[in-house]
Amino acid sequence: MKTSRIFLIFVSIVLFLIAWVPVSPAETGSDAWLRYAPLDAAAREQYKGLPGRVVTLGDSVVLQAAQRELIRGTRGMLDESLRAEEHLPSEGAFILGTLADVHAAIPAVSLASISTEDGYSIQVIKANGHSSLLITAINDRGVLYGVFALLRKIALGAPISQLNEQQTPYAPVRWVNEWDNIDGTIERGYGGRSIFFEGGHILADLSRAGDYARLLASVGINGCAINNVNANPLILTPEFIPQLARVAAAFRPWGVRLAVSVDFSSPKSIGGLDTFDPLDPRVAEWWRKKADEIYATIPDFGGFVLKADSEGRVGPSAYGRTHADAANMIARSLKAHGGLLFYRGFVYDHHLDWRNLKNDRARAAYDNFYKLDGQFDANVILQIKNGPIDFQVREPASPLFGALQKTNQAIELQVTQEYTGQARHLCFLVPMWKEVLDFDMHAAEGATPVKALVAGKVFRLPTGGFVGVSNVGSDPTWLGNHLSMANLYGFGRLAWNPDLAAKEITDEWTRQTFGNDSRVVETIEAMQLSSWHTYENYTGPLGVGTLTDITGNHYGPSVEASERNGWGQWHRADATGIGMDRTVATGTGYIGQYQPVVASRFESLADCPDELLLFFHHVPYTNVLRSGRTVIQHIYDSHYEGAHAVEGYVHQWKSLKGRIDDQRYSQILKQLEYQAGAAQVWRDAISSWFLRTSGIPDKEGRAGHFPGRIEAEAMKLIGYSVQDVTPWEAASGGKAVACASDAQSCSATFQFEGEAASYTVDVEFFDTNNGAAKFKLFVGDHLVDEWAADNNLPTPRIDGSSSSRRRIAALALHPGDEIRIEGIPEGGDRAALDYIEIHPSSSPN
Ligand code: GCU
Repeated sequence: MKTSRIFLIFVSIVLFLIAWVPVSPAETGSDAWLRYAPLDAAAREQYKGLPGRVVTLGDSVVLQAAQRELIRGTRGMLDESLRAEEHLPSEGAFILGTLADVHAAIPAVSLASISTEDGYSIQVIKANGHSSLLITAINDRGVLYGVFALLRKIALGAPISQLNEQQTPYAPVRWVNEWDNIDGTIERGYGGRSIFFEGGHILADLSRAGDYARLLASVGINGCAINNVNANPLILTPEFIPQLARVAAAFRPWGVRLAVSVDFSSPKSIGGLDTFDPLDPRVAEWWRKKADEIYATIPDFGGFVLKADSEGRVGPSAYGRTHADAANMIARSLKAHGGLLFYRGFVYDHHLDWRNLKNDRARAAYDNFYKLDGQFDANVILQIKNGPIDFQVREPASPLFGALQKTNQAIELQVTQEYTGQARHLCFLVPMWKEVLDFDMHAAEGATPVKALVAGKVFRLPTGGFVGVSNVGSDPTWLGNHLSMANLYGFGRLAWNPDLAAKEITDEWTRQTFGNDSRVVETIEAMQLSSWHTYENYTGPLGVGTLTDITGNHYGPSVEASERNGWGQWHRADATGIGMDRTVATGTGYIGQYQPVVASRFESLADCPDELLLFFHHVPYTNVLRSGRTVIQHIYDSHYEGAHAVEGYVHQWKSLKGRIDDQRYSQILKQLEYQAGAAQVWRDAISSWFLRTSGIPDKEGRAGHFPGRIEAEAMKLIGYSVQDVTPWEAASGGKAVACASDAQSCSATFQFEGEAASYTVDVEFFDTNNGAAKFKLFVGDHLVDEWAADNNLPTPRIDGSSSSRRRIAALALHPGDEIRIEGIPEGGDRAALDYIEIHPSSSPN
């Protein structure tokens, strides 16, 4: 008795102690690549001799942030506590300050020359006879960037003891746009609600906005427009401006200038005028006063972004004025304050007549703006999407880049994965961006890649660069998925230096995000670097453009959604052929917008690169590609290859178990498993549609054949009824079963007829976002799995966007086993089912 009591007390003490053992905090993703995780002892060794003190010359909020960051980073990674000193100490130190202040404080030191704003120098110098590490620049922001660069080197384990490095940004404009609405939602945002707005106001707590600015600064981004380009005019009301000032204050320590998107009708809609005609002096006066009002409150305000005459937004055409009239009038109100006006080149008619084969949305940006070259003021920047359509998985570079010679430009890249998997699919976009940035437009003598054109290097234009549509949100992962953050990181790094290789960028990002374990680094890099091509393969290969629902969520497969409407994202696929004829000879003439060298390559069917063939040409399905395959066979092959590659990602990821913290490991695994199912949905939908439409079979016999598949509509149904799915290709056999609206639970049953063995069982169900139905899978009376359909996919409909796969691995089945799936509907989610597929555990699928 006594012994057992002592034993109990002992156990209690042990349990108590265990509960107090500090555990490493869960990795939510909110620190992104700025985790400053401790380096291992070997890696730390080389930083042993680093100074223990830091002196900051100057006290601006940016320099203070730089100093705090240095202290934070070295503490996290090296477990060193840097001491901040007011004056140069009598020992080595980190010295932070502008060139002017460093000169004044240490006149004897010879400094590297830097002449570009935001550029920095990191040098080992002798100060007061001691070896010190100097981070200097011509402006405070450059010093901050230098600190981040140094911390990045440490995180990557790079040597710094002999450092003498100067870096300058490739272009002055390195901005992001957020498409947040003032009600707190985010247009095309996949990472939760706004970090800036809620209920028509700026949030009371802007700490996350500050954290975001820190992330942006760490990769050199210096401006951020925080609201939707489809702007609510209220953003410019007198009530809003002081609230905006609070965001500017949260950004300021990080050198990020605040900007806003504006509505062109503002002088009328909120200003009390009866017009917004850009040539009416009262309108110009209204904008001038508005700019003065903003700058009186926010002296470092960055400027405005304007979407006009596009997708239902009003613009200068309302008064028969030009885009230059509109842009210049607003730009002049900003000029005295040093503000910029980003005028969006994304202007097109979304009521095009689809029956007219000469109509072409791709022509729009060039047709609208080329003729205005030379008419824009110096503080106007034309913000041009990378391709002529709209952030598709593959587009050629916009011809406008090669055409404008007298207009400041910025390339607009989309970080948020609107058409590229919406942060539910891994799709690393840096390789795609690099293809565009490196593409030679042949705009002048010598090489004229897009990057050089937008940076103003070719035609000596002072104010250009890069804008990323980022759309981060309140989700701890920012974009809705840990792996998607490589896109934000990559955008910033490319904006700083577009010559960086995709591999170098993913290497940096992976090491900072997940650590330096080489297995982890190699595995994640391989996944990231192949993921764009993989996504392209199972969604829309050969430059066909989108095969998704273009008038809705832009997510699941819906091949004909882009046809027979005015939006102009046509692929013209019919029984005999596919592709847009954009040739000069027989098509829309779009190709003629490129410079002759580029145009002749695209115009020729023989020379046109395979990956853009269907963007430029309408061809029969039997057309033979440069690869030697026919177009139709390429469509089948690429979809099967793409879906297979995603299955591979799941296995690759699983090989990292134990090498990554549990939280991120399991969240990413779940996402990849979902993606593997979704890739299969795409594969089946697209191959089935083309098989039926072209009537040409898949040489490999895959399309239209689904071994091991039992359609739900062929099972014994209780409570479930069969329904047609629209579009038909979104469900196997075009049909699904769904619980009747008054059913409490439903079941679908069939008898297994294969051999006794271990099987992988896939249940394809529809996870609509209007409820969280539950499912149970039984073999005989034995419950083998149960799950909820609560993945928050972007549709209330039974279609390709909600179609999801539940995989049950290693299930022992015997001939005659009764397999029953029970669905328990909730709300509008009718526990719909598509099919069950059963494969021997050993077979690859
Ligand atoms: C896309 C996107 C819209 C957005 C538009 C734009 O079309 O789907 O949500 O408003 O681009 O860039 O203006």
